[in-house]
Amino acid sequence: MMIPIFIFSLLITLSSASVSDFCVADTNQADTPSGYPCKPASKVTVNDFVYSGLGKAGNTSNIINAAVTPAFDAQFPGLNGLGISMARLDIATGGVVPMHTHPGGSEVLIVIQGTICAGFISSANGVYFKTLNKGDIMVFPQGLLHFQINSGKSTALAFVGFSSQSPGLQILDFALFANSLPSELVEKTTFLDDATVKKLKGVLGGTN
Ligand SMILES: *[C@@H]1O[C@H](CO)[C@@H](O)[C@H](O)[C@H]1NC(C)=O
Repeated sequence: MMIPIFIFSLLITLSSASVSDFCVADTNQADTPSGYPCKPASKVTVNDFVYSGLGKAGNTSNIINAAVTPAFDAQFPGLNGLGISMARLDIATGGVVPMHTHPGGSEVLIVIQGTICAGFISSANGVYFKTLNKGDIMVFPQGLLHFQINSGKSTALAFVGFSSQSPGLQILDFALFANSLPSELVEKTTFLDDATVKKLKGVLGGTN
């Protein structure tokens, strides 16, 4: 008599425990600083935990000759709430992922193909850079400015992992010159002359 009741209550405990095993993103709702609200567990399928978007090369026909394809919580609902994510880096010959930061997470990069010169700058303006070859991995501490340059003679491919489901991406050159901040303020804050600021705004799509 006691045993069936025990098993029944155990089953209830187990099934309610599974609800907090994951919080698959309900991307129909707005993202928040702590991620997306959870999709009801009854609607979750294995496909929420699988993402195929990193399987093909990004389009590198752009000003940086490189493409960053994210698998963050907005693209990959299953990693919502888990504090991890990934991205794919395709860098054509001569291409660069310009100086940028991910405010929300540290990054680890693995080179799959080609040669990448990668580095970061510390808060103390210490410089850490190295030429990476196939199989090499490098870490970029959270929030620090860093870059990746294709320094080889063929296309480079790398994958990166982040310690955040939504690490964010802010590219320094775009932040400075692809916006509508008046040129005189950009000049004042960068110590660059008017002609250089206007030229960079022109190239990168800024105004004013
Ligand atoms: C890549 O992007 C360029 C520029 O936006 C575009 O002209 C081209 O059609 C794209 N190529 C592919 C394969 O989507």
